[in-house]
Amino acid sequence: MPTIELHTEIPGPASRALMERRLHAVPRGVYAAAPVFVRRAEGAVLEDVDGNRYIDLAGGIGTVNVGHRNPRVLAALRAQLDAFLHLCFSVTGYESYVELAERLNALTPGHFAKKTFLVNSGAEAVENAVKIARAHTGRPAVLCVEDAFHGRTMLGLSLTSKTHPYKQGFGPFLPDIYRIPYGEAANTRLGDRVPMSHEDVEQLLDHTFRRVVAAESVAAMIVEPILGEGGFVVPPAGFLPALATICRRHGIVFIADEVQTGFGRTGELFACSHFGIEPDLIVTAKSLGGGLPLAAVTGRTEIMDAPVPGGIGGTFGGNPASCAAALAVIEEFADGALLARARTLGERFQHRAYVWQRQHAFIGEVRGLGAMQALEFVDRDGAPYSAPAKKLAHYCLRHGVLILTAGTYDNVIRLLMPLVISDEQFAEALEIVEKGLNTVMAELGELADTMP
Ligand SMILES: Cc1ncc(COP(=O)(O)O)c(C=O)c1O
Repeated sequence: MPTIELHTEIPGPASRALMERRLHAVPRGVYAAAPVFVRRAEGAVLEDVDGNRYIDLAGGIGTVNVGHRNPRVLAALRAQLDAFLHLCFSVTGYESYVELAERLNALTPGHFAKKTFLVNSGAEAVENAVKIARAHTGRPAVLCVEDAFHGRTMLGLSLTSKTHPYKQGFGPFLPDIYRIPYGEAANTRLGDRVPMSHEDVEQLLDHTFRRVVAAESVAAMIVEPILGEGGFVVPPAGFLPALATICRRHGIVFIADEVQTGFGRTGELFACSHFGIEPDLIVTAKSLGGGLPLAAVTGRTEIMDAPVPGGIGGTFGGNPASCAAALAVIEEFADGALLARARTLGERFQHRAYVWQRQHAFIGEVRGLGAMQALEFVDRDGAPYSAPAKKLAHYCLRHGVLILTAGTYDNVIRLLMPLVISDEQFAEALEIVEKGLNTVMAELGELADTMP
């Protein structure tokens, strides 16, 4: 029995009516990847308000690795509802906050004493990680990378690379933020990537510390272990270890933003483990909360304890419902089956995608780790080509598969499906992607002369 069931054109009449209301009530700046409205979600399946059923390869942008309405998460939430809803951890304590901190301290990479602070969103956690690093070092500057995405608050945006639509019109941004290339030589032509060696990274940072900002002024370096919004770019194996070594040498706090890479997505609980690095601070969010808003900063005790009492906090940070959900999420990952599943899903995708790559000239890289996988589209010259990504996402939606684009040039299709997706559902979704590729490529092949 196929999972996908489409009863109307997509979007259907009920979704279209809600979209009309949305257009009048919600500002246009709030992006809508798919013009459909959902009334129910389970596992890796969405049902819209017209009764159409989709396979979800977007997972709320990677927030439901354990699946929509995961039964263990629901049970934990029901128990929490029967006890109390909100107290504010800065007013009175509750055990689940402390227990979650203990679990994250133990689970995150790094064999040293750690502490954890809970907030509501990835951007808020990024903000706090930088505040904590500044308080610890007494230094102002922050290093980040090209093509990074760190959230939509003013500091998050200042650290974010992509200008349109994220930064356009929102400046001025915060001072003392400096950007380096992400694992590839800076002056190479687009599409002509040259991975940096350890020596290249040493040289790059040596130049940066002489010509851009003094190492003694840098509080922190923040980096995603794999670029998320930037297009699922996996850095060369030595890049992150080299950065971590150089940061340690100069007393710079090394922060890993695992908001999108984290909580099992890549086949490890944290993507840093693939690269053998132990960041000083790790930022987690998205799938940590199993569908509820929650984010964390976890790191070395001596750094985390730098802010004075009252220096960090927030009304809703680490609210009881989110803590209960996160503890259930951790239990879901405990036996390693979901991590193995992430690796299997990634292998299955790559197996199919390498065939597509041989068949279609416009497919550039097939890349990713575990279930964090992407297809990149390039034109005849190897430069980023966004049309296939956008058209493919559109085709998939109209045929019952929700899939997201990514990349600084919007030329990437990415997979962030719940890891509980069944073999049959995943195969069904990939069939649609394959048919979509054939359709879109034929269409664009015919239009080859108008290609950029
Ligand atoms: C790597 C990374 N950091 C930070 C954020 C911001 O998280 P939030 O949207 O929860 O503020 C995101 C969101 O996509 C992200 O992918």
